[in-house]
Amino acid sequence: MLEIIEKHIRSIEQTALSSAEEVETFRIQYLGKKGILTALFADFKTVPNDQKKLVGQALNALKTNVEEALSRFQVKSNTRKSAPQEDYSRPGYAAIPGAHHPISLVRNEIVSILERMGFAVAQGPEMEDDWHNFSALNFPPEHPARDMQDTFFLAKDPDWALRTHTSSVQVRMMETKKPPIRIIAPGRVFRNEAISSRSHCVFHQVEGLYIDKNVSFADLKQTLLEFARAFFGEKTEIRLRPSYFPFTEPSAEMDIWWGLENEVDHRMTKGTGWLEIMGCGMVDPAVLESCGIDPSVYSGYAFGMGIERIAMQRFQIPDIRAFYENDLRFLSNFTGAL
Ligand code: DAH
Repeated sequence: MLEIIEKHIRSIEQTALSSAEEVETFRIQYLGKKGILTALFADFKTVPNDQKKLVGQALNALKTNVEEALSRFQVKSNTRKSAPQEDYSRPGYAAIPGAHHPISLVRNEIVSILERMGFAVAQGPEMEDDWHNFSALNFPPEHPARDMQDTFFLAKDPDWALRTHTSSVQVRMMETKKPPIRIIAPGRVFRNEAISSRSHCVFHQVEGLYIDKNVSFADLKQTLLEFARAFFGEKTEIRLRPSYFPFTEPSAEMDIWWGLENEVDHRMTKGTGWLEIMGCGMVDPAVLESCGIDPSVYSGYAFGMGIERIAMQRFQIPDIRAFYENDLRFLSNFTGAL
């Protein structure tokens, strides 16, 4: 039986099929109900047990060869067959333009505004150690502030985790660069959160950091106002609300005035008219110290915003999950946008 199988394998190697009819005959010859392979598989039952493995492997090899030969010749014969039927007067298919993902669109716009304001783009790893994601940012061990961010720890070593925010890039920059430092860090972050229309376990942030002599809260406020007006429109009003982050003191949350004219405005702003855009504050002196920067000489501000929230607001997308479903009906809405 082995010999017969090998003979078939050799003969297939030398077979050339030039027409669709020949391909079909070949297919029926091997794979048809009464074909060679069907017969061989039936005979396989009679092979003694000690030879089953060898014969079985050969049989499978033959089957693969047949299938490969078929797909090889089918492609060829298809092209040959369809060529003369081509209607050359038919208008061409419209080229379907690609589209940037809405998250990329918003990120690019945020980055380009901040670049114009003098910030350079920095990057850091998505997998971080406890120091860069938490400790250096003044989250003490066991401190409840760590609960603000549900973390995906690495199973093998809980000192490592997927970063929960891009603030970790601040630490890396302060550790390696001398002030003045003026960077933004766009990137992906991860939180062990239940997925809903408003939150996802993967999302994007843009972090900002400015460290120099005599940086004040007024500098922060003016920078954010400029940013908000460049992004949301010239007349945009902002407000800063006191807040808490372990790595900034004082800390604030920035809202933009959204308006309260219709039902959607009420829903978007929880009835206040103000839309929360980002967290910010003056870098805590303890953080500067952890990163080797002398807080008696330097001060700085930081801010961090979520790209999804801003994109949802900009494009009126009611469900954050739409960003990750890769549904062409959704993505194709963004063709042509730059
Ligand atoms: N890391 C914060 C978060 O993920 C956002 C943030 C708040 C970043 C204040 C900052 C900041 O740089 O100063 O919720």
